[in-house]
Amino acid sequence: MFEEFILVEQSLKLSGEVNLSGAKNAALVIMSSILLTEGKSILKNIPFSQDVFNMAKLLEGLGAEIKFDFENKEVEIDTSKVAKFKANPEIMKKMRASILVMGPLLARFGRAEIAMPGGCVLGLRPINFHLTNFKKMGVVFIQENDFLTATVEKLISRRIILEYPSVGATENIMMAAVLAEGKTTIINAALEPEVLDLISILKKMGAKINILAPATIEIEGVNFLNPVKHEIMCDRLEAGSIILAAAVTGGQVYIPNGDASVLDVFLLKLEEMGHTIKAEKDGKGIHFVATESPKAVSFKTAQYPCFPTDLQAPMMVAQCLAEGVSEIEETVFENRLLHVKELQKMGAKIEVEGTKAIITGVKELQGTKVNASDIRASCALVLAGLAAKGSTTITGVHHFKRGYDELDQKLESLGAKIVINDNEIIRKSSNNKQVEL
Ligand code: EPZ
Repeated sequence: MFEEFILVEQSLKLSGEVNLSGAKNAALVIMSSILLTEGKSILKNIPFSQDVFNMAKLLEGLGAEIKFDFENKEVEIDTSKVAKFKANPEIMKKMRASILVMGPLLARFGRAEIAMPGGCVLGLRPINFHLTNFKKMGVVFIQENDFLTATVEKLISRRIILEYPSVGATENIMMAAVLAEGKTTIINAALEPEVLDLISILKKMGAKINILAPATIEIEGVNFLNPVKHEIMCDRLEAGSIILAAAVTGGQVYIPNGDASVLDVFLLKLEEMGHTIKAEKDGKGIHFVATESPKAVSFKTAQYPCFPTDLQAPMMVAQCLAEGVSEIEETVFENRLLHVKELQKMGAKIEVEGTKAIITGVKELQGTKVNASDIRASCALVLAGLAAKGSTTITGVHHFKRGYDELDQKLESLGAKIVINDNEIIRKSSNNKQVEL
């Protein structure tokens, strides 16, 4: 076993056409929602990222039978034999999205046993909004060390108020409420596109859900939900990352299955930088052409439809190489600027003040050895490596593989010189030679 790394060589003017995979942050919660039904469901456009395989393992641990069809990018989930309620502790520890099995297990079986998910580099990432509101719905918790057993005789429908529109809490509460007698209302709900994708599959299963302004979800409980076929939405965060790869290398890209209508603020900021973006009818199909002289822009992250926190790190790379001074404020997570010190190693000029980064654009970055702290930081460092002079070695490969479905190969198809050297395989490099260590 050697330390895995991604090797990226400077690759200017990326260009070409690439299609997106399914959205990780829709796939994970939708896979978990299948626990609400009894029988075989089929999910299409499933992304084959590590976190999806982790979620599959978690569901198998509960008794589900999972069959991946790699050819057609589908997964069949059969929940007929689900009869266990303890989520696999190691997976809970490494993937926070595991918490999303709680709602379905409580709704279907009245019981869920979880390990408290560890905090992560982005911050404490507590689950108080989940637990407090499950308690309001009648759930009783017994904690032993960092294991939690949740039981409920009969879920009570409630008027739930979220002080912050938490994506996971909205999803978990909604998946409990769909089988709870009566009407549950979630005030100040998250309405990210991935949450809407979850709502669309729940309604296909037979759930009664309405979305009201402002940011309110109303759920009328039903007695049972049916297995379904559903196509996962495309990954808007992967779209943003691919567009930024073209932006930082002065290139151009066409994404036929990209949907501009779920990236409005992000694309607005790119236009303010001077880049050209065209979408085809109803927002589908995104054409991006980079400007030769990008202007730096400031932004702050917040809940949808504001600038997405998951594109903050990759967008910071574009500001590092743009003309002028910009300010980025991260308002969703308390510690999501860990990529700054790695970008500084590459010559970026960034000052951090609390959750704000002040960036002064530079002409060029220098390739060097850097480390990725989380999924989106790993993407940012790949983008920085594509733009930087020389070559960049990025450790923390597991983050990149957790979050993306062969994004390295998508970038390679646009002309990127990028190789993942991992312990499973040594992938062929772009000039078709094996990269020896
Ligand atoms: C989802 O995480 C996404 N993950 C995250 O993507 C994304 O960054 C985040 O939503 C915000 O859009 C998945 O969908 C699997 P939150 P989630 O609950 O649900 C605090 C990626 O890179 N909070 O909306 O965990 C929390 O600490 C990942 O793909 C509480 O205080 O996000 C954070 O500061 C990273 N108490 C803020 O709310 C709680 O009970 C937003 O968290 C829950 C959350």
